Amino acid sequence: MSDSKFFSHATLEKNIGWLIICTLIVVSFAGLVQIVPLFFQHSTTEPYPGVKPYSAIQLAGRDIYQREGCLGCHSQQIRTLRSETERYGPYSVAGESVYDHPFLWGSKRTGPDLARIGERYSDDWHRIHLRNPRNVVPESNMPAYSWLEKTPADAKTISAHMRALRMVGVPYTDEQITNAPKELAGKTEEDALIAYLQGLGTARRAINVTEQVSNAPLPEPMK
Ligand code: HEC
Repeated sequence: MSDSKFFSHATLEKNIGWLIICTLIVVSFAGLVQIVPLFFQHSTTEPYPGVKPYSAIQLAGRDIYQREGCLGCHSQQIRTLRSETERYGPYSVAGESVYDHPFLWGSKRTGPDLARIGERYSDDWHRIHLRNPRNVVPESNMPAYSWLEKTPADAKTISAHMRALRMVGVPYTDEQITNAPKELAGKTEEDALIAYLQGLGTARRAINVTEQVSNAPLPEPMK
């Protein structure tokens, strides 16, 4: 071994400690090169055009979405695959999630993706569906959330919640924060959840998916 130099492949291959240390250095460096620029890139730090902070009622609805575990069955991220963009709409981009703390992208799809569900159905459709999904989709295995229509939305904690979000960069004004409990007055949890759902994905709905995904013409729809 005396003829091989210290800075050689042989040193790495025959010395497990060295190999581990050098692997860690290389992997960490590669990770930093990928991750650090994302913190400074416009497309990941600036809101997508038309994306606004959630209103008080939408924010309250988002809390209910988290509390009820909708995330366990519904993702909120449309991939760049044609099968997804044809079904759901334009694929998701980072700038749509800048006001999401935490992200609710999810990864499980027992039900459909909800990233573009906003304005697709009427409020009444959502009410019927949430109270008993089987009334609109007979084969549905989604649970019923019938108590939401009877539970008042939580107006007590909403201002504190908005102040906390402001600390992590969501640009709520003092006026929005003070008026938040008024916005929730007399509303039920069902109203709040529907307000949240109706806002999902509307900012990016209008763009031309075909152009975004590929410039190739789409096949004729099947008859
Ligand atoms: C056990 C899994 C499950 C859970 C939990 C669940 N869902 Fe669903 N959801 C489904 C399935 C399956 C469908 C498709 C059938 C249907 O429309 O009911 C669906 C459909 C939907 C749709 C219609 C989507 C479309 O494109 O037609 C909406 C909106 C929805 N769910 C919202 C919610 C909300 C809000 C919650 C939480 C309060 C929730 N879901 C919890 C399984 C689930």
